[in-house]
Amino acid sequence: MIVCIGAGPGDLGYLTRRGGELVQQADVVAGFDAVVDLVRPLIRADAEVITMGYKDQTAKLADVAVHHHAGKRCVVVFMGDIHFSGFQYLERVEAACGHPVETLPGISSAQVLASRGKVCFDETTFVTFHRRGDLAPFQRHLVHVLQDGRNAIVIPRPWDFMPKDVAAYLLAQGVNPAHEVEVWERLTTAEATWRGTLAECTAEFSDMSILLIRSLVPMPSQLDDLPR
Ligand SMILES: C[S@@+](CC[C@H](N)C(=O)[O-])C[C@H]1O[C@@H](n2cnc3c(N)ncnc32)[C@H](O)[C@@H]1O
Repeated sequence: MIVCIGAGPGDLGYLTRRGGELVQQADVVAGFDAVVDLVRPLIRADAEVITMGYKDQTAKLADVAVHHHAGKRCVVVFMGDIHFSGFQYLERVEAACGHPVETLPGISSAQVLASRGKVCFDETTFVTFHRRGDLAPFQRHLVHVLQDGRNAIVIPRPWDFMPKDVAAYLLAQGVNPAHEVEVWERLTTAEATWRGTLAECTAEFSDMSILLIRSLVPMPSQLDDLPR
């Protein structure tokens, strides 16, 4: 009676058909204000909408759990895909319900960025800093990703580890300043893009931004049967 749904990166056209059906059928639709707003056109007029922010999320999710335990069809909507930078919120939903809950994948901002930047997942690692707690293991991992010659798709953390802080950290760790970087804001809605090198990445960006840090040298194709 409760499903967590990835709502996609912003434009409703990127919400999966199954996600849309579950929102339309729901008696209760819950989530952070901005994410609920994305799916609002699909919410039934008689459905209960429970929006929340960082401060009241525990109390609001407890209300959702009450509806769930009363047999109402509940959906909790997540930004992008739940499985990238969404698990801490999922933990909160499961803690409120007292058991594991079903998840429905959505299209992540990372997937849209991979498409805009034409990089494949095989050669790219996703790292998020948008999480509570110690960032140090994730920071070290990002250095290793770049040292391994892979691209990195990086979600910054508002507001203490934004793109300029990511770049400054990497430079301080001895990462080559010539890495090409792209910062994309508000993918699929009011998109804006910045391109430059790691050394040049010093500007301020909004909290709806995601970075692509390209490997210094693209991985060679291992196809040997194509005419060149
Ligand atoms: C908590 S993370 C959740 C990411 C989400 N689960 C996903 O798969 O895209 C939220 C951050 O993702 C990034 N983000 C999400 N949607 C975005 C979009 N449409 N354009 C750019 N960045 C986005 C922003 O950095 C935002 O602050």
